[in-house]
Amino acid sequence: MTRLGVLASGRGSNFQSIIDSIDSGYLYAKVELLITDNPEAFAIERARKSRIPFKIMEPSHYPDRDSYYRAIAEELKKRGVELVILAGFMRVVKKPLIDAYPMRIMNIHPALLPSFPGLHGQRQAVEYGVKISGCTVHFVDEGVDTGPIIVQAAVPVYHDDTEESLSERILMEEHKIYPYAIKLFIEGRLKVDDRRVIILDQKREEDKIINPPLE
Ligand code: GRF
Repeated sequence: MTRLGVLASGRGSNFQSIIDSIDSGYLYAKVELLITDNPEAFAIERARKSRIPFKIMEPSHYPDRDSYYRAIAEELKKRGVELVILAGFMRVVKKPLIDAYPMRIMNIHPALLPSFPGLHGQRQAVEYGVKISGCTVHFVDEGVDTGPIIVQAAVPVYHDDTEESLSERILMEEHKIYPYAIKLFIEGRLKVDDRRVIILDQKREEDKIINPPLE
């Protein structure tokens, strides 16, 4: 069983989709620990409900960012975490954590990278006027949303979309592709070749997850 560590700052709906995927048997994994930088995060309630240990770690309690991320890495290692999942963790992860988990940290971003990295990917897409947007699961490197792309899903953008309506449509896909990307990792089917991620032995029916038919 693969041991997961989740980092979240807020609502935690992606965290929930991972919990649900484990409960349903889709993912052969266990969440060993939730770490949050926000004592008010609703993700904490989700952890409580599923009896997942959680730890509130606020950066202001550490002398600098490096020691903060070193402390996070130590907590994760202590519990034998093998894969780190950023699920709405609103911070740029620094070197000590990345070095502790090279190509073992995933993030989900609400846009089709490399378009619209950073904050408010959905608002950026609406304002730019693109006709298709979506979400991206990628490995985390030291840049902002720049790591090797694992899985993407597309959704249409309509002329009367708002940031909220587009976010909602994208979120539905996030809840499918994040568990799928984790499953690929667990099954040892992700091979990183420089900045390209190769999915080994990809099955036809899986194609529907990453390329849902546009409405
Ligand atoms: C999602 O839109 C995700 O793509 C972004 O932050 C949001 C987190 O939502 N990284 P939730 O906390 O998982 O509900």
